[in-house]
Order: sequence, then structure tokens, then C-alpha cells
Amino acid sequence: NYYAIVMAGGVGSRFWPSSKAKNPKQFIDILGVGETLFQTTFKRLSQLIPKENIYILTNKAYVGLIKEQVPQIIDEQIVPEPEMRNTAPSILLGSMKIFLKNPDAITVIAPSDHWIEDQDAFTESLKMAFSAAEKEDRLITLGFEPTYPNTGYGYIQFEKGDAAEVRKVLQFTEKPNLKKANQFLSERNYLWNAGIFIWSAKYILECFKQFAPEMYRLFEKGKDVYNTKHEKAFLEQYYKTAANISIDYAVMEKSDAIYVIPVSFKWSDLGTWSSVKDHLASDEEGNTIINSRLVAENAENNIISGYDRKIVVLKNISDLIIVEDEEVLMIVPKEDEQDIKSLREAVMKKYGDD
Ligand code: GDD
Ligand code: MG
Repeated sequence: NYYAIVMAGGVGSRFWPSSKAKNPKQFIDILGVGETLFQTTFKRLSQLIPKENIYILTNKAYVGLIKEQVPQIIDEQIVPEPEMRNTAPSILLGSMKIFLKNPDAITVIAPSDHWIEDQDAFTESLKMAFSAAEKEDRLITLGFEPTYPNTGYGYIQFEKGDAAEVRKVLQFTEKPNLKKANQFLSERNYLWNAGIFIWSAKYILECFKQFAPEMYRLFEKGKDVYNTKHEKAFLEQYYKTAANISIDYAVMEKSDAIYVIPVSFKWSDLGTWSSVKDHLASDEEGNTIINSRLVAENAENNIISGYDRKIVVLKNISDLIIVEDEEVLMIVPKEDEQDIKSLREAVMKKYGDD
């Protein structure tokens, strides 16, 4: 009864300009390990989940990339979205399709762009989460000990002193501002949301019905065509009318049946340039050099992602993100890296889509 929904439709825009609409970060071998993040994700999930039960939700533009990168995946497992509507519509659609196949399905929602070092530790936590989700109607998430006030994550509050393996969540807060993030960190009874969710298809559908009734009704209209040849036409017509919202805002912030399993395996969202830095070697001055060669004088802790191994020369500048590709040269202070998403939008407004 184990299923997976792999979320592979994002653009990874805080990773711009290396990750862009044409080729988002999940389909790139960002860390230079010989396979893309998407390929690793599929492999990792198939340790526990039958391969044919792994559904890939993605933008229709990436179907080709997916088939190329994991040729075992058959067409029925790929659900192409006609438009980007963030994760809530996509999870709702995937869950309806899976529920129609198997009303007892327990599903993991897995991002396709994470880096997890210890695959076996992940599988162990997933097993625990599956059995916890089987026992009772609840929404389970995996949580990590936060180490700094990252404003790009969801924060999960649990009862102080609760040391259970599966903890009741008091409050889920998606992407808090810096002030709040700092406060959460100092209170110590918060975890970072890993963005990996486990629940029964049946229960998440009930939650959508309760917390996002309009979206639920929209997708319910298609219940007779899902998993048939008419599905595509239905989605072409209606998908774009769904609200553009993530599962975190649409359901997680609203439910009071959330539980968290604290995990400690090495994990990274690889969401931003700084997160890559943690997984790559740096030089003695703390400069991380990707695809380029560096000559530096009094320049520290920069992240340089070059192009064609070009030589980059830096003097008296530190803590910058410097990224170059065929079309773009971007230089942004590390502390402003959460703004790369909006900078990309400004570029697209002025010069067209990437
Ligand atoms: N199919 C599909 N369609 N997938 C999408 C879409 C979409 O429209 N938009 C995003 N995704 C995929 C991304 O590719 C990624 O794998 C996953 O869904 C999560 O989206 P992100 O955009 O990366 O979310 P986030 O990183 O800002 O925040 C989420 O993850 C954090 C941990 O990495 C939240 O769940 C946070 O609470 C969490 O801390
Ligand atoms: Mg992410």
C-alpha cells in the first residue's frame, strides 16, 4: 500500500541563474556526484516503495527530462501539469489519482531536489512514518534540528519536553520573517520542516476538503476521468484555475492533526547557493569554487559558480555569490540570497523568460 508523489515541477528560482525554467535544479547534477537530484530521489524512494507506485508530478515541460533521466518510469506514472500552481494543487491531484487506484494507499510526498547523505537512515525514518500514518488519521512530517534562522523553511513547534519519536505538533509556521525565526530558534522546541510528508491518501483528501474546499471541488470534478485517456483534456482546461499555493500554507498551517518525527540524518534542501557550499570543498579562505578557477587576494567566503572553467579574479571582496552562465552574470551578497527569486523575476520582466 506504499506510494510516493515526487514533486518535480519547481523551477528552483533561488538557485538562479544555474537553475532556470528550461532546466531546473532537480534535473541537474548540482553537487557533481554523477547523477541528478531527481535520479537520486527516485533511487532512494525505491528502497521502500514499489517502483510502479512512484508518481512524478511535474510541469509538462519536464516530461522529456524525466523519461531521459529515469527510463524505467512509464507514462502513467508521470502527471504533467499544464501550468505551475505550486505544490497544493499538485499534491491534491496526485492523491486523488492514487486514491482511485488504491483507497488504502499511504503516500509520501517527496521533494525531488533534496540532498540526503545516508539513504538507509532516510528509509528507516520513512518506515516509521508510514506505520505511524497507517495507525491513525494524521499528517506526518519529518523535522530537523534548526541551526540558524533560515526564513525559507517551515517551522514546527512541539510541546516543550516532548521527546516522543512521533510528536504532536502545536503549530506549523511556513517561512517566518527573520524576527520570528530568531525567536523560534531561541525557544528550542521548534524543528525545521523537511518538506517530506507522509499520510494516507484518504486523509489528505479529507483535509483538502476541509481547508481548501474550492480547490477540492475543482479537482473532484475530474474524478471520473483520472487515470483514463480523458484526464489530459480535463487538466488542460481546469488545472490553471486552481489557486497558486503551497501545501504548507493550504493545509499544514491549518490542520491540528500534524505530527513530526525528528530525524537527524544529514539533509539539505539545496535551496540556495549557501546550502551547496556546505557540501562542497572550499579553499583555505572559505571560497567555494564550482566550474571555475580562482585567483583571490583578501577575498573570503565567496561562492563562485563559473562557466567553462573561466578564471575569476577577486580582491578585497567577501561573502558574495558570483554566478555566471551563457546569459547571465549575477553578483549578490550572501545575506541577500533569499532575494534571488525576486531578482530573477525582475530580469524576466525586463528581458523575457529564462
Ligand atoms: N509538481 C510540482 N508542481 N512540483 C512543484 C511545484 C509545482 O508547481 N512547485 C514546487 N514544486 C516542487 C519543487 O521542485 C520541490 O521539489 C518541492 O515541490 C518543494 O517546493 P519548493 O519551492 O522547493 O518549496 P520550499 O523549499 O520553498 O519550501 C518547502 O520545503 C522546505 C524544505 O525544503 C516547504 O515545505 C518548507 O516548509 C520546507 O521547510
Ligand atoms: Mg525547496
